[in-house]
Amino acid sequence: MTAIPALPADTPIRPANDAAALEMAVDILAAGGCVAVPTETVYGLACDATNGEAVAGIYQAKGRPRFNPLIAHVDGLERALGLVDLDGAALKLARTVWPGPLTLVAQRKLNSPISDLAAAGLDTLAVRWPQSDALTHLVRALDRPLAAPSANVSGSISPTTAHHVKDSLNGRVHMILDGGPCSVGVESTIVSFITPNKATLLRPGGLTRSEIEAVSGTLTDSPSNLDAPLAPGQLTSHYAPSAKVRLNADAPRAGEAFLGFGACQGLHAEHRFNLSSTGDLTEAAARLFTGLRLLDGKAETIAVAPIPPTGLGEAINDRLNRAAAPR
Ligand code: TXA
Ligand code: MG
Repeated sequence: MTAIPALPADTPIRPANDAAALEMAVDILAAGGCVAVPTETVYGLACDATNGEAVAGIYQAKGRPRFNPLIAHVDGLERALGLVDLDGAALKLARTVWPGPLTLVAQRKLNSPISDLAAAGLDTLAVRWPQSDALTHLVRALDRPLAAPSANVSGSISPTTAHHVKDSLNGRVHMILDGGPCSVGVESTIVSFITPNKATLLRPGGLTRSEIEAVSGTLTDSPSNLDAPLAPGQLTSHYAPSAKVRLNADAPRAGEAFLGFGACQGLHAEHRFNLSSTGDLTEAAARLFTGLRLLDGKAETIAVAPIPPTGLGEAINDRLNRAAAPR
């Protein structure tokens, strides 16, 4: 096996729709390197999911605990079916939603080529076909699934622009493809079908509960507060800025930065960012991580306006609760 290419001191950012840049990305991936790639949810840090050494490079770049498995990204249903068993409600959901912000966890096929490190030794596997021309192209060109966690240092805020990736991983990844800001802005919804035809919600995300239930029936919630969470990455403290986070704040207190939602008239803070002045949850999700990043470091505490728990508000509140959790 050839050695993984050396990391550049200054990671280049190239347009995700540029043919020469994509060709360069394929060469890097084929050699076992890692490339940050835009998806509709957040930027992913992609590598060849069948190459254990490449996967080790991703864990290292992120400083990620080894026990936390990665999502295998595919370019269509057919490749997914070579990796996991999908039938019944799971298959129906994949057919309806993919490409889109949904990750399915299912029984891993015995002959699946995924490296054990990517699956963290589990006999299940998380699979997703994202709405991303760049990622879909790379999987096809490489003819292999790509393992891709969010392209941020483990535990910190996920990136929704190429510059967010550069800010946290410069010099730790081989290349960044820039596809502009992510349209959804929160990670994919993770649904497990380990028990056949029983859909369990492991992580709320860019696809809402009602959109899923319309296809696959009532979702069971994964029991929380387990010693071993069902989605091992769902540690309580996650998506965390360095500032403290105070939730459900009707108004900022003196000295606090303010992450607003909706009309917020008459509320003053030196550092403020409104997720959506019209109270639109889709807009708020797309701007969530940018807002947290902009306010981080500006004040000791970021006060956050109440966000309704409906629709995409479920994923937004999930991320905010983790950002506010004791560390
Ligand atoms: O939107 C997304 O899902 C983004 C983009 C890049 O696709 N990816 C992402 O990956 O958020 P990551 O690694 O940051 O989060 C994946 C989550 C982790 O919490 C991990 O524990 C969980 O998926 N996961 C992966 N494999 C699993 C499995 N076999 N069973 C349960 N949970 C799993
Ligand atoms: Mg992540």
